[in-house]
Amino acid sequence: MSITVIVGAQWGDEGKGKITDMLAAEADIVARYGGGDNAGHTVTVGAERFALHLIPSGILYPQVVCLLGGGMVVNPKKLLSEMDELAARGVEVSPARLKLDGRAHLIMPYHIALDGAAEAARGSAAIGTTRRGIGPAYADKSARSGIRAQEMLSPPETFAQRIREQVAAKNTLLQQVYGQPPLDAEAIVAEYLTFAQRLAPYVADVSEVIAQSLRRRKRILAEGAQGTLLDLDLGSYPYVTSSYPTIGGAIIGLGVGPQHIDRVIGVVKAYQTRVGAGPMPTELTGELAATLRGTGTQPWDEFGTTTGRPRRCGWLDGVSVRYAVQVNGLTEIALTKLDVLSRFEALQVCVAYELDGERIETFPTDSTLLARCRPIYETLPGWQVEITQARTFDELPEAARQYVSFVEELSGVPVSCISVGPEREQTIRR
Ligand code: GDP
Ligand code: IMO
Ligand code: MG
Repeated sequence: MSITVIVGAQWGDEGKGKITDMLAAEADIVARYGGGDNAGHTVTVGAERFALHLIPSGILYPQVVCLLGGGMVVNPKKLLSEMDELAARGVEVSPARLKLDGRAHLIMPYHIALDGAAEAARGSAAIGTTRRGIGPAYADKSARSGIRAQEMLSPPETFAQRIREQVAAKNTLLQQVYGQPPLDAEAIVAEYLTFAQRLAPYVADVSEVIAQSLRRRKRILAEGAQGTLLDLDLGSYPYVTSSYPTIGGAIIGLGVGPQHIDRVIGVVKAYQTRVGAGPMPTELTGELAATLRGTGTQPWDEFGTTTGRPRRCGWLDGVSVRYAVQVNGLTEIALTKLDVLSRFEALQVCVAYELDGERIETFPTDSTLLARCRPIYETLPGWQVEITQARTFDELPEAARQYVSFVEELSGVPVSCISVGPEREQTIRR
């Protein structure tokens, strides 16, 4: 048993990148299992910041081999530019270090056009997607018409023909349903043939790579993208992404058996954020929200890594944390951004919801019910001193220790790691 899975426990942006990077120091393999470049994972190393969208946050350690799992949808143009950017900054991204599962689906220009067109058509009911083509790419996968990474290994004419067929079908949709201009199939073919040539050496069988590594007793870290509440089935549908950020997504997305997984770490931000539309019971407005969000002057202020959108902010939602423990079988929690709470005199944590006059302690399966839930808070004392220098639990002020213990009681799982800043060392491990 030597796979550790890192799962986002909220609505994404919990700090998975930082936690993955930290644990990657002790890993041989780091694998992303789902999503695409809708993800934005920030890793800070000294004065350097890396915003990773597709490549696992383990790439900065030379001993680590990085895998892009079959559960992902990959925009080859974005992957290549991320690889080039890393290479320009001195990070090796050879096929020995980076492997793309042949089963992963390719994001095509028509997916991006359709994402935008569908969002516009939804009007006020828009999901607020990242417009990276994620939903349409997963829709094609389910419809069994998607183009997979391994098709880049086909003879060029076969690959070109697949693209032509798909562009023709999607142009009908774009023009006749959405009133959009058609895309130029030959331009896409030419572009994707070049991508295929560059990416072909990276295409591999990730399930097999992991199986062999397990036999050699290698340590494997699986990095989730997005978060539990954005899961296509388990999240706040329809305000979700189109993949499975939860533990099940790791098993399918990497092609591994569950018996190999010994730790499931839920990354929980010390408060709640959400980008995009959909219900969020603990959302704050006004001064409190602005204080949580920050002004955008600090890199960790709550503005999207991928889209730059201001994130909606609120107090920690304990109901949703318990739900994340349940659906993922979390064995522990990594609590991030505790330092941000130093700004407040008093803190609130949602312990239950009030729904139509009744107290409920479970996360509703229906978003329209979730939208009617009002948070029931418990108030905890703030600490209002810098904690970014703390390196042991005992160095934290009493009120901060109390907050951590409260999260443990609420969730029923230990907080094994507390993050007090974006840097690798700004971490307390217990
Ligand atoms: P991810 O998508 O889950 O990887 O999270 P993001 O990278 O989108 O957003 C988290 C942001 O918070 C990044 O800018 C991180 O560098 C930063 N961050 C992570 N942990 C901490 C922490 O404990 N304190 C502070 N202040 N920033 C943190
Ligand atoms: P990381 O990995 C936060 C949100 C979008 C939108 C919804 C659907 O950085 O935590 P999509 O483009 O996926 O179809 O959009 O999901 N979303 C994220 N929110 N962090 C992310 O990734 C997200 N990836 C998608 O804002 O509400
Ligand atoms: Mg992010």
